[in-house]
This record gives sequence, structure tokens and C-alpha cells, in this order.
Amino acid sequence: MADKVVLAYSGGLDTSAAIKWLADKYNMGVIALTADIGGVGELPAIQKKAMKIGAVKAITIDAKKLFVDSFVFPALKANVVYEKQYPLATALGRPLITKLMVDTAIKEGAIAVAHGSTGKGNDQVRFDVSVAALAPKLKIIAPAREWGMTREETIAYAEKFGIPIPVKVASPYSIDENLWGRSIECGVLEDPWVEPPEEVFAWTKSPAEAPDKPEYIEIGFESGIPVSLNGKKLDGVALIQQLNKSAGKHGVGRVDNVESRLVGIKSREIYESPAATVLLKAHQAMEAMTLSHQQLRFNEKVTSEYADIIYNGLWFTQLRQDLAAYVDQAQKNVTGTVRVKLFKANCIVVGRKSPVSLYDFGLATYDKEDVFDQSASIGFIHIFGLPTKVQSRVQGQGGDKKTQKKA
Ligand code: ARG
Repeated sequence: MADKVVLAYSGGLDTSAAIKWLADKYNMGVIALTADIGGVGELPAIQKKAMKIGAVKAITIDAKKLFVDSFVFPALKANVVYEKQYPLATALGRPLITKLMVDTAIKEGAIAVAHGSTGKGNDQVRFDVSVAALAPKLKIIAPAREWGMTREETIAYAEKFGIPIPVKVASPYSIDENLWGRSIECGVLEDPWVEPPEEVFAWTKSPAEAPDKPEYIEIGFESGIPVSLNGKKLDGVALIQQLNKSAGKHGVGRVDNVESRLVGIKSREIYESPAATVLLKAHQAMEAMTLSHQQLRFNEKVTSEYADIIYNGLWFTQLRQDLAAYVDQAQKNVTGTVRVKLFKANCIVVGRKSPVSLYDFGLATYDKEDVFDQSASIGFIHIFGLPTKVQSRVQGQGGDKKTQKKA
């Protein structure tokens, strides 16, 4: 019996061609695995297509809940955004898909796993390193990294073997989608000076066409996790799906950025992440009310480390798990409700409340309810400003006496 390989199958051109290519080149039985994390099309149709092309088995898994609970929300709790722009949708999806591939390979007795990534991107790293962490003995095959075909050649290859070519192939863009966002590359976007044509966007309205009336949304958080929308309890998947719709309608969540890939290439990336944009903003507003200044400062360091770890494909590492444990502990009081206003591509936090708020009206107010002892500030500032005063006296203002003298 031929050896088996589990291929991460999306139903797109590359992974469809890969079914045939793996069967021919490696003489393997291809098990096509499609994980629905909120981006693929109709699962039964994809499954049928895989079998038609020649897969020995086609498996589909609805992994939306797993994706949200175990990947998206841990990332949200840590506020991760790569290079201050990218909420990491694709980067978060890859380790989960790998985990499902590895589990399936073990269950089905396969000796290898395969994915459709090329040799130029981050996704190959995320797949390969995740396999190395989870099942180092499995062989990894990346057809698109090996076959050396251009897009046109891949289309010709598909035509030659009667592989149905998706309608989307007519589009010059490379697109990856899941619940946390949509990533768009290639075509005219490869010129960073060219404004993205409206046709690249599918989830967000152009601000010019967004409603002229703002919409208000209330998001309830419990220990850093969004649990309700406008007062209604919702599970994570439904909450994100609903937010993608309402924020997308107002044109919220578009990103246009030149990004630093792990493999050393700068690439121009377009993202649409309406729900992620709103939730990240709201979450930070909740933290601002419930965490101390020191906690907020320290979390910034964790955030940037954590974002790089996810971007670089290191999800299944010990350090990522260590950071996640810290984040869980640090989020225990991030509870309350945030009100945001969606209007013409803007998401603005306009209200927040919490049962464990650190905002103390009596201390903050300038009205007669004021309980803050202003006279105590004099002694505080005397001590707080002491080192500045001494240094200035000895070394001059700005710590440079010579410059001072010349001036
Ligand atoms: N640059 C992003 C990342 O590395 C998005 C990649 C999207 N992939 C795609 N096939 N369009 O995470």
C-alpha cells in the first residue's frame, strides 16, 4: 500500500494542483484535510472536489471555536499586533491548521504532511516549525516550494489534468481569510506607491460609502475575553462574526502596510480586520481602566515579544506558553463594558465602566466631592523632583554645564 500524506487543503488552485502532484511525484495516497476557521467556502463542495482530483480521503473539520478560544482570544488578551499594524490573522491560523494536520496524520497512519506555501513567505515557516514542535518525525512536503511553477504554469498544469480552476483564479490577488481577518497580496499591490483598488476589499465598505450615521456598540469583557455584545451574551465565534459585519459596514479595519517578513523580504500587505480592530481597541480601553500603570507598561513589552513569536511561527514553543500563563494571570481583573462608536472607518472608544475600576471619582473630580489632599502634593513633588534639582544645580540644565556656559 502506498504511503499516505495529509495535505492542508483549501480548495484553491495551488492545493488542488498539489493533490495531483503529490500522487504523481511521490506516489502517495493524499488525504485532503480542510479546516474551517472562518475562511474556506462550502465544506462539502471542497471535500467533493478533493476526491474528484484524486485524494484517497477528504476530511473536513469545523475548527472555528477552537481557533477563537485557543488562538484568537489568547492573542487579543495580549493585544498582539505585528509592527503596530497587523492583527496576525493568517499567522494565528497556521499553527492550528498544523495541529489538525499532525493529529490527522497520526490517526490515519500517514508518514508525511504537506502544505501549499511557497518558499518566500512566513507561512512555510509557521507550518514547518509547528510540525517540528508537534511531531518531528513527520516528513514535510511543500509542493509549491518544490515544483518551480509560475502561476500561469500552475493553471496550465491544472487544465491539463482536468482540475477545476476556481473562479477566484481570474483575480491576480493572493488572499487568505479566517475569522480574525483577511490578508491580500500580489497584483498591483506589489507597487507600494499604488493605492489599493476598491476591488481588493471584501469585508469593509469604503469610508466614502459607509453610513452617514454613527453606530454605537457595547462590548462586555470578562478577564480580558469579550463575552457580550450590546448586553447580549454571545459565544466567541458569533461575537466575532457579528462584529466583522457591523464594523465592516462602517469601513473599520482596513490596513495598508509594508511589512518585514521573517525571510528578509519587505512586502506590501493589505488587511481587513474589522472585528479585530474593534476588539483590540476596546480591550485596551478596558485595561486602561482596570490595570495599574506598572502593569500596562510591563504588558507593552510582553505584547511586542508575543507578536513576534506568533508572526515568526513559534506558537508551539515553551516561551509562548510561558507568556500565555503570565497574560492569563495579568488579565484577571480586565472585566467590564466598553462602548465604541463606529463611524466612517473610525472606531472610537466613547465610554467604559467596570466593577473593578481603578478610576476613583472622588480622587479625580475638581468638584466639591473632591477628597484628594492637594496640600500633600507639595511634599511629594519636593522629593520626586529632588534628583532633577540636584543634577541641574551641579551639571547644568539638561545635564550639560559646558553647553550651558557657552550659551
Ligand atoms: N503577510 C501576512 C503574514 O505573513 C499574510 C500572509 C497571507 N498569505 C496569503 N496567502 N495571502 O501573516
